[in-house]
Amino acid sequence: MTDQRAAQQSALAGNLQAVTRIEGKGEPKIGIDEFMSVAERFGFGPETLAGIRDVVSREPLDTGPFLANYYANLSQTKVQAFQELACETFGVRHAIGVSSGTGALHAAFVAAGVGPGTEVICPAIGFFATAAAVVMANGVPVFCDVDASLSMDPAKIVPLITDRTVAIAPTCVMGSVPDMDPIMAVARQHGLKVVEDCAQSCGGRYRGRYVGTIGDIGCFSISAYKIVGGGEGGLLLTDDERLWDRANCLAEGGGLWRPERFAPPRYDGELFCGTNYRMSELEAAVDVVQLGKMPAVVDRFRRVKRAITERLQTYRQVVPQKLNDADGEVGYALRFFPESIELGERLLEDLRARNVGASMRGHGGRPDWHIYHSMFPITLRTGATAASCSFNCAEYRRHAGERTYERGQCPVADDLFDRMISIGLNQWYTETDCANVAAAIDQTLAIHCTPDAGAPGWR
Ligand SMILES: Cc1ncc(COP(=O)(O)O)c(C=O)c1O
Repeated sequence: MTDQRAAQQSALAGNLQAVTRIEGKGEPKIGIDEFMSVAERFGFGPETLAGIRDVVSREPLDTGPFLANYYANLSQTKVQAFQELACETFGVRHAIGVSSGTGALHAAFVAAGVGPGTEVICPAIGFFATAAAVVMANGVPVFCDVDASLSMDPAKIVPLITDRTVAIAPTCVMGSVPDMDPIMAVARQHGLKVVEDCAQSCGGRYRGRYVGTIGDIGCFSISAYKIVGGGEGGLLLTDDERLWDRANCLAEGGGLWRPERFAPPRYDGELFCGTNYRMSELEAAVDVVQLGKMPAVVDRFRRVKRAITERLQTYRQVVPQKLNDADGEVGYALRFFPESIELGERLLEDLRARNVGASMRGHGGRPDWHIYHSMFPITLRTGATAASCSFNCAEYRRHAGERTYERGQCPVADDLFDRMISIGLNQWYTETDCANVAAAIDQTLAIHCTPDAGAPGWR
């Protein structure tokens, strides 16, 4: 060995020794302070926080937890546990936890084949996000009028179907469920996919089946305001392997869910550039517990609603919301239609005076994202750029012309939304609370309306 080579070898050995003897000792990236920040967010007081810090500081944290769904060195992450529980609870083959209900809908529409030049039939009453997700998938929403259940009227779907229609998107409205059998029959007859938006009725059932499991894909928002949800989250359910692949592809752009990430596509349309709607581990940690509680929550709401409605008399000037499945709805609100807006306003005032939490959100022309003619900025038909697809596709315009969204196009929705009174119920009402709330509602109705045993009944 030359002297030079020997010197190089000895320098290398020294370096190796130095590398194996790193002295710097780090702290976990996610450690006690981050954990305490979560505890603080729960609203615990200073004494409790100090107690928690004292106890958890004694836990050996090593490098700290890795709060991501992938590459976590665990037998099961919280996101995986949430998805597994969703499959068990709803009885479906595939569940994807995502970051929002809007993300779930966007993934669902792309999976279903919505793209430039296509249309999706959405209900005139629902929520802006359903139609917005169609636009994000570059499709065009076409609104279908509702019936007295406030859900899409199955009898009005067929005239809206064109050769551009790809899917129907029935939405569950505030705890109630759409009339799924005739909707599915139309969809199957015309070869259309059904994307259910069940954000407002998680745990609702139609003829014994959970909503979200009847169509091809079920979407849920599990944000803080929903029946299940911690902060911001979403859930997508499907039994269809290919729809699951494609929804994953949109929601998990990198293909991280695939066992072999760089394997070539197995079929046309399996792989494409998606985005990242991944659910966070912290959200999943809350949601997996909440989903476990969902059946009991829904049972309590149903019991409360029944205990109230069975105490109410029927009145000539008031029509309760039609229920497509009275036993299956999640009864967190009692809704009815007074015969006029003026009567509604008088009822509202008296209900509130009796401390009943009632609202009549449609009247007075205030914009509201729950009805098609106010779904701003869908009504503007703008894209992020002048050339953005959806409404502005040359291809779409050539075949479909100009599509507008204006009051008057869905007259039943316009009328019912204006007159609808909604009374929010609380799952924790006792029998006495239910009796008191029922008495307050009944007294109010009795003052302004005529009792009529033959009028439509409460359920
Ligand atoms: C029917 C419906 N769809 C979709 C969404 C959107 O869900 P997120 O806020 O989680 O995106 C909501 C939220 O309120 C909703 O009510």
